[in-house]
Amino acid sequence: MSKDHRAPEQGAAEKKGPRFDRRSFLTLLARGSVAAAVTAVVAQIIRFLSFQPPGSASSIMPLGQPDGYPRGSLSYLAEARVYVGHDRAGLYTLDAVCPHLGCLVKLHEEGGFICPCHDSLFDQEGRALSGPATRPLQHLHLWFDQEQGQLLVDRSEQVEPAVRLIL
Ligand code: FES
Repeated sequence: MSKDHRAPEQGAAEKKGPRFDRRSFLTLLARGSVAAAVTAVVAQIIRFLSFQPPGSASSIMPLGQPDGYPRGSLSYLAEARVYVGHDRAGLYTLDAVCPHLGCLVKLHEEGGFICPCHDSLFDQEGRALSGPATRPLQHLHLWFDQEQGQLLVDRSEQVEPAVRLIL
């Protein structure tokens, strides 16, 4: 007959099955935290790689009829994110996306444009007047499409600031 030399508590614990001590718990917690962090990073990478900006399916956007832009006007088209201007030389489009960090610029009460995010100022031609933006608003390719009978802008195609559409 053999004797059991274990303490009564030890024997009782082994009978109940595996027990977590503090070290096991901390190890499990650390592994769980690492797994959660890795999962979050992978999810962000996937999200970044699959990101498509709004309207990126086509960079060409309709702007309507030319007579909607009388001489002297400057109009915002939210869907295309552009301003359509009509000065003495003709029609032009300015990208409303701020070249600093991508906010949409607004018409400034004193003329030109202001970015609501960090207060960059641009003149009516889109030239940067004060930062933090140092680059101008982009002039975009604008044309009249005979088939569609309306103005179109290509957000992916920049043109020189002096370019005007004359109809
Ligand atoms: S995003 Fe326009 S000034 Fe910063």
